Amino acid sequence: MEIIILDTPEEVGLLAADVMARYVEQGATLGLATGSTPVGAYRELVRRHKEEGLSFANCRAFLLDEYIGLGPDHPQSYHATIRRELTDHIDIEDALVQSPNGLDPRHAHDYDRAITAAGGIDVQLLGVGTDGHIGFNEPGSSLASGTRVKTLHPRTIQDNARFFDSIDDVPHHVVTQGLATIGRARHLLLLATGIVKAEAVEALCEGPVSALCPASVLQYHPHATVIVDQQAASQLENAEYYRYAFQCKPEWQEI
Ligand code: F6R
Repeated sequence: MEIIILDTPEEVGLLAADVMARYVEQGATLGLATGSTPVGAYRELVRRHKEEGLSFANCRAFLLDEYIGLGPDHPQSYHATIRRELTDHIDIEDALVQSPNGLDPRHAHDYDRAITAAGGIDVQLLGVGTDGHIGFNEPGSSLASGTRVKTLHPRTIQDNARFFDSIDDVPHHVVTQGLATIGRARHLLLLATGIVKAEAVEALCEGPVSALCPASVLQYHPHATVIVDQQAASQLENAEYYRYAFQCKPEWQEI
């Protein structure tokens, strides 16, 4: 796992966009996250599309998760969110931007088959929850799980209430890619910014691999990159080494 510590959330977004753009140029299958963390990276990708001609025409995309009970037209569904924040502003074909079906969760497993049929995900962008979740694999999730229904942890409901008019409007259930589904992506790119993520970042990078911190499965992945800002890195014991290793990184070695 490569851990990259940058000064600001803006720098995290720019570096993430650099990595994603490399895949976009190859016509890759992209794994997309929603939430606040990737917004800076998406903004930069949209800018590169509009100002520098970065084309997504040969790409397709799979979302990580979806709320149960919110249809694609609901503004807080992840289907609508990713269109508003990214895919409506680039030249990716809308039918090739897929998300789990929050209105018919009984067929959640079909999502894994769709990803496999598309040749798998080349790069999966991830945020992390304050409780260590990735996708919506809450603490206690099976490390071998596929796409399925999960109940949100009360802490996640509280964290996500900011996107809704009231905490009572936050759905309690979701369909999420499982930890094994996420682990099959060829490159995992996890971003975290802000002091609220410091504890989760320490647990996922330096703690034991444990269902209690689902994001710690990244430690088993052959190509996982974690990009964090100073605040999110503030509890990392080995931070000095990560900074040193990134400074010494040979130019020919890609992230
Ligand atoms: C969203 C997702 C979640 C978020 C996480 C962090 O698709 O899968 O795991 O990445 O909850 O959310 P933010 O970025 O809003 O702090």
